[in-house]
Amino acid sequence: MKRRGFLKFTGLSASAIIIAPSLITENLYASDGGLYKAYEKVQLKDKEGNPLTIKSLKKEENYLFHFPMKSTPCILVDLGERTQKDVTLKADDGTKYIFKGGVGENDSIVAFSAICPHQLTHPTPETSLFQYVSNAGKTLSHDKGGVFVCSSHLSAFNPKEGGKRVSGPATEGLTQIVLEVDKDNTIWAVGVLGPSKFHDYFDAFKDEFKKYYEGRRRAKKLVKHEAKVVSLDSFSKDIIQY
Ligand code: FES
Repeated sequence: MKRRGFLKFTGLSASAIIIAPSLITENLYASDGGLYKAYEKVQLKDKEGNPLTIKSLKKEENYLFHFPMKSTPCILVDLGERTQKDVTLKADDGTKYIFKGGVGENDSIVAFSAICPHQLTHPTPETSLFQYVSNAGKTLSHDKGGVFVCSSHLSAFNPKEGGKRVSGPATEGLTQIVLEVDKDNTIWAVGVLGPSKFHDYFDAFKDEFKKYYEGRRRAKKLVKHEAKVVSLDSFSKDIIQY
């Protein structure tokens, strides 16, 4: 368990955004089912503005970026081991969707929306109660590490099974961010798979959007062309994990 500094966290919130057609021409690592939404292809870049590559990722590090909207946080992790393939998950309304597996040489790189499907806890510049806990890590949310954890109410999600909920009060899995790796090993975000909480998120955090994005309208803008990736540690002042 980990706590850095004093905690203060936020509450809940929308918008079923107009979906820009994906510019992707290569294979998507996702089912093209009803819960898949393609967005304009966005290249992930490091804080210096260099393209992020699969080889530059530290194993089991939490990397934060925003996609598909400027204020919707996501966490990217190289799990260091293969994910499962073709995992069928189910949304609360019964809709099924399929996790096709991670990307990279070992199918070990995944990304998920960092908005908890339970009550929308998410990383902010002040604090984060939501993160990936390494295999060697401990958490009260689950009997072992290697899971994404939301410490607000102790939900845990298995990234190797497409963000499936494995414990806690959340009833759905994490929203998957569909990634693509180009021939030069660069990483791109191309879509969102699974039930998303964006609509509720944009309704719930008006004050936060005002503080960080000059209002909700700007917060809802789609990310274009590239997204900056930073370590979660450098994004949030306080990292809380139980
Ligand atoms: S908000 Fe994440 S477990 Fe409740």
